[in-house]
Amino acid sequence: MRVMATRALDDGDDRDVGLRAESKNAMKKRLKRQRRRDAALMKRAEAKRRKADVAASTKAAFHDAVNAMSSEARDAFFVERGARIEARRRETAARKERRRAQLSSAYGLVIDCDEDLTTTMERERWGSLMKQLRAAYERNCKTTAPFKMSFTRMSEAFEEQMGRMNAGWENWHVVRSGKTLRETAAESETTAKSLVYLTADSERELREIEAGKTYVIGGFIDRNRHKGLTLRKARELGVEHARLPIGEFLETRGAPVLTVNQTADVLTSFLERGDWGEAIEAVVPARKVVKIATNRSNEADAKIKDAERARDEDEDEDEDEDASPTADDDDDAPTSTDGAPR
Ligand SMILES: C[S@@+](CC[C@H](N)C(=O)[O-])C[C@H]1O[C@@H](n2cnc3c(N)ncnc32)[C@H](O)[C@@H]1O
Repeated sequence: MRVMATRALDDGDDRDVGLRAESKNAMKKRLKRQRRRDAALMKRAEAKRRKADVAASTKAAFHDAVNAMSSEARDAFFVERGARIEARRRETAARKERRRAQLSSAYGLVIDCDEDLTTTMERERWGSLMKQLRAAYERNCKTTAPFKMSFTRMSEAFEEQMGRMNAGWENWHVVRSGKTLRETAAESETTAKSLVYLTADSERELREIEAGKTYVIGGFIDRNRHKGLTLRKARELGVEHARLPIGEFLETRGAPVLTVNQTADVLTSFLERGDWGEAIEAVVPARKVVKIATNRSNEADAKIKDAERARDEDEDEDEDEDASPTADDDDDAPTSTDGAPR
């Protein structure tokens, strides 16, 4: 229904130069949008004013405190403050350098967030997966041996939830190629040859992490209900695949299937230390370990015994898959003691 029409006249000429019409509903919506915008502007201005008030009173309190000091105390205070500011400046510079190194690393790590995986897993687990992505990213930010990390193209729904779960993730130092893994693998033979899909089901064991290669982790939580899924995908795409060499260092309860961030953590620890045994022992949750493989040292054996003791104490505790996804938040812990899916 037309409820409003404006007729514009041009220099007294009654020729129509524009006829704009707006339905009642459209007008209501427009006014509502306007009111919302005005309210948001007012809220922002108020927050800014409050922030300025707090800053002014903090500054005044600082000056009062400094003025109340003896001259020796004041000198000591400023020396200590200068050192603190300098340490912070150095830390910021080091962080920037680490970030820069992240994007120029010769070692590639891609998390496969393709829709085929995220729609196969239960949607209720998306949140946990997103926490794992964040944990993997944060680990990569902290190391001195970072990977050039990337995420493949996500579905709209997944990306929308990612924005809510990991606010600001668009600014992470990761590459977002805008392509699915399938599209990337199909780009050229050279690209396909540079990819190594990591999967616990591969018959090949990863021996080295090579510069120029990109290691793929399946962005997937399935509590082992889809065994062999990423292996099939790797074969379908015609890319290399490999499992972590866990069995060589640890005897585990059931199949050693790790979470996304644990897998990334093992890779990063290996880049840092150059030793698979150490990298694996540092990451694989103690409750999964039965015993250390015989080729490991006594020292490592003692470490595992400690871990076993801790595990026995924790055994009765439930796994909380929404807890922070550290090595012990093994929300893929898929197996009972006999290795069967729970
Ligand atoms: C929870 S697992 C998903 C298991 C799933 N059934 C599959 O087919 O990959 C998440 C990802 O971590 C990586 N991953 C876990 N354990 C691994 C292992 N032992 N060796 C290599 N990669 C592993 C794989 O990339 C895997 O896709």
